[in-house]
Amino acid sequence: MTAPFETLVASLHGQSLTIAARILTRLGLPGESARRLGDEPPAIDPVRTALLIAAVRYGSHLPEARACLKAFAALPQRPPLALVSFNLTARKPAQQTAGESAHLRKTIAGFGLEPVAARAVAGKLNYPR
Ligand SMILES: Cc1cc2nc3c(=O)[nH]c(=O)nc-3n(C[C@H](O)[C@H](O)[C@H](O)COP(=O)(O)O)c2cc1C
Repeated sequence: MTAPFETLVASLHGQSLTIAARILTRLGLPGESARRLGDEPPAIDPVRTALLIAAVRYGSHLPEARACLKAFAALPQRPPLALVSFNLTARKPAQQTAGESAHLRKTIAGFGLEPVAARAVAGKLNYPR
């Protein structure tokens, strides 16, 4: 079964990709793959919901996430957007909603987004690495 959304991931060290795979498995879509964003903004499916999972580095979502959202915001007709911010601040229970998370607030306001869902999820800091 094709997912009603396409999964786009901005990840430096791979944790966000792990989360994406986990979400797809939990939704019963284990064969569905997430697309890892690169330097070029992706062509965004105009019909399916865009699920963007974006890691934070030094106070901002990764540049490829920002490039993707810029391209998304410029679409004449935007598909629905679901946003997951992956960062360490979200380890605190009061930093996980679009209203609470500064990363989500800044990104949503900065690109003029109206996500149908937005959530901050606790990331992982791999100290030895
Ligand atoms: C160099 C570095 C800078 C980071 N900066 C922030 C930050 O400013 N705020 C935050 O909440 N998390 C920050 N994090 C945590 C990452 O968002 C978290 O480690 C996440 O799991 C990384 O996902 P990835 O493995 O998909 O790249 C930082 C992590 C690293 C390694």
